[in-house]
Amino acid sequence: MCSPEHFAVEYAINPWMDVTAPVDAELAVKQWDRLRETLVGLGHEVHLLTPGRGLPDMVFAANGAFVVDGTVYGAQFKHEQRAAEAAAHRAFYEEHGWRFIAPSETNEGEGDFAYLPEAHGGLVLAGHGFRTELAAHAEAQEALNRPVISLRLVDPRFYHLDVALASIDDENIVYYPGAFSAASQKVLAQLFPDAVVADDEDALAFGLNLVSDGLNVVLNSEATRLAGKLKSAGYHPVPVELAELKKGGGSVKCCIAELRH
Ligand code: ARG
Repeated sequence: MCSPEHFAVEYAINPWMDVTAPVDAELAVKQWDRLRETLVGLGHEVHLLTPGRGLPDMVFAANGAFVVDGTVYGAQFKHEQRAAEAAAHRAFYEEHGWRFIAPSETNEGEGDFAYLPEAHGGLVLAGHGFRTELAAHAEAQEALNRPVISLRLVDPRFYHLDVALASIDDENIVYYPGAFSAASQKVLAQLFPDAVVADDEDALAFGLNLVSDGLNVVLNSEATRLAGKLKSAGYHPVPVELAELKKGGGSVKCCIAELRH
């Protein structure tokens, strides 16, 4: 995770960002800190990156890389404004002894990649259409030795995979079908017949932008119906308020890069 000390909306690279809307960085830090405490309270170890001045989106740590079984596939940001963030993530992984593979294709890490270790023997789901290039999906498959399923995102409000889909345990997902092309919706329905499906209101409240340890599902507090559906499916929803970071176009999952040994 990376503190939103320098969080601001200085440019607009997704439809949620409005450079004229005021942002309260202090409130953003407070809300983010509660998210960090929530993870620690659930027994997770949280490492922190040093926020970079002039990198207002660095709080969205999920975009810096994608890790599967100890191997890190690095990010290469689409927009110039965020390009420098990749080096900070790379330095973290290299300092901590992870196997790091540098990308040559545009991809935004866990923003567009999800991993299901027990689905079909270990499956990567990958989004394209707005940020990550299709060529990066093939590059990730070679880097990570796992089949990569390419999914086409078609609604600019859902510009990353992780605002439209999340893993809720080792083999199942929750997603919002409307974010995907008709063909990709069929692919998801075939692969995940038991998936939890979110409605548009919960999806637009960033409900899908969640993290799960297989039981506890940490999600945006505004996605109330989704929390109910998860509860009925046997999970334990843990709502967190992250309204300030929504102005940057992100929520829970965007703030968290998952370290998979
Ligand atoms: N303002 C950031 C961007 O548009 C938000 C990134 C959100 N992160 C995510 N994992 N979806 O790049």
